[in-house]
Amino acid sequence: MSKLWGGRFTKSAEEWVDEFGASISFDQELVLEDIQGSLAHVAMLKKSSILPEEDADLITSGLLTLQEKAKKGELSFKVEMEDIHLNLESMLISEIGPVGGKLHTGRSRNDQVATDMHLYLRNQTEDVLSLISALQTALLEQAENHVETLIPGYTHLQRAQPISFAHHVMAYFWMLQRDKERFTESLKRINVSPLGAGALAGTTFPIDRAYSAELLGFDAIYENSLDAVSDRDFVLEFLSNSSTLMMHLSRFSEEIILWSSQEFQFIELDDAFSTGSSIMPQKKNPDMAELIRGKTGRVYGNLTGLLTVLKGLPLAYNKDMQEDKEGIFDTVKTVIGSLKIFEGMISTMKVNSEVMEKATKNDFSNATELADYLAAKGMPFREAHEVVGKLVLSCVNQGCYLADLTLEQFKEASDLFNEDIYQALNPYEAVKRRNSAGGTGFEQVKLAIQKGRELVK
Ligand code: ARG
Repeated sequence: MSKLWGGRFTKSAEEWVDEFGASISFDQELVLEDIQGSLAHVAMLKKSSILPEEDADLITSGLLTLQEKAKKGELSFKVEMEDIHLNLESMLISEIGPVGGKLHTGRSRNDQVATDMHLYLRNQTEDVLSLISALQTALLEQAENHVETLIPGYTHLQRAQPISFAHHVMAYFWMLQRDKERFTESLKRINVSPLGAGALAGTTFPIDRAYSAELLGFDAIYENSLDAVSDRDFVLEFLSNSSTLMMHLSRFSEEIILWSSQEFQFIELDDAFSTGSSIMPQKKNPDMAELIRGKTGRVYGNLTGLLTVLKGLPLAYNKDMQEDKEGIFDTVKTVIGSLKIFEGMISTMKVNSEVMEKATKNDFSNATELADYLAAKGMPFREAHEVVGKLVLSCVNQGCYLADLTLEQFKEASDLFNEDIYQALNPYEAVKRRNSAGGTGFEQVKLAIQKGRELVK
C-alpha cells in the first residue's frame, strides 16, 4: 500500500523496518481523540473559509462515520499505515474519496499527535480524579466505623503510642487529597491546545487556533509553535503525579500486607481480594496489595523512561517522542486498575478491633502518658522521661508492663504519682486525651472525618 507521504521516495522500506517505526499497535488507543481533533480542525478550516463548505461537510460526515465504527470496534488498522493519524486519514480517503486528503490542510502530524495526547490525558485525569474520590469515600466509611477502635501507632516499626484506627486510615485520605490537588492542578497545563502549530513553525493558511481550541474545550493555546509540538511536560507531570499516588498506595499496601499476616492479624481481606496457594491449603495471600506495591515500580520506570527520552532532544518534534506512548498508556492502565482494586479491598476488609486493641495493652506504648503525667504535675519533661525510662527498664527486667506496677513501686520512682496513674495508663484514655489539632483524640478524628466528607461530596 502506498504511503501517504510517499511522493519523495523511490523505494519502500522493507516490512520489518516499517514495523519497527510503526506505533499503530499501541497508539490506536488514541483513535477517538484523533477523530475529535480532526473534527475540530475541519470545522475550523470551514469557518476560516480555507476549505469550501461542501468539502468540509463531506470530511465531517466521513469522520463521523469513522467515529461510529471506532466506537463499535469495527476499524481495522494496518501496520503499513504506521500510526493512528495516517491510518485514519487513509480510511477517510477510502470512505469519501480524494477530498479526504484535504483534512490535513494547515496541520501536521506533530501538532496532531500533541493534540491527541492533551485530549487523552484530560480524559484520563478526570477518570483518575473520580476513582481517587471513590477510594477516599471507602476510607471515610472505614474511618467512621472505627473512630474508637485502637491500634498501636508505630515509628521505626516499633510500637510508639496508641492511636485511633480511623486516624491511621485518615492519614491516607489526606495523602490522596494531595494527589487529587496535584492532578487537578496539572489540568491547567494539560488543557492547552497545540493544534495549529503545524510541523513546528505555524502555517501559511489563515487558521483560527482559538476557534479549534474552543471546540475542543481547551482553555488556551500554546504561545509558541515550537514549544507546542515538542512539549511533553504535561505527560511527565501525569507520570510524576501517578508515581506519587502509586507510592501512597504502595505504602498502604505494605501495611495491609503486614496487618493481614499471622503475626499481626489486625485485618482480614475479603476472599474476593485474596488468593490461595496451589500447594499450601491454609494460605490466604494478599496478592492484590502485593501487586499494587509491585506495579508502583513500573510507573516509576515509565517516568524515568520518558525523562530520559526527552533529556537530549533538540527542538522541535523528534521521532523519539513516539516513545511517550507505551509508558503513558501503561501508567494509565496501572493507576486506574490499582485505584479500583484498592477501593474494593478497603471497603470489604474486616477490621479485627479486639486484636488491635489487645495489642495496645500489651506493650509500653503508654510510657509517654507517664512522662506527660509527671510533666503536668510540674516535673521538667526531660526529668520525667528519665524516671519513666527507668520504670520501663525495671518492668522489662521483671517481665511485666507499666500497668502491672504497684502504687508503691510508682511512688518509689516519684512521689508525684497517685492512684489516678492507672487511668492515665489506659490506652483508650491516652488516645482520647490527644485532642490537639490534627491529633488522634476522638474529637479531632471526628472533625477530620467531617472535613473529609465535605471534600468528597
Ligand atoms: N506516531 C508519531 C508519534 O507518536 C506521530 C507523529 C509523527 N510525526 C512525524 N513527523 N513523524 O509521535
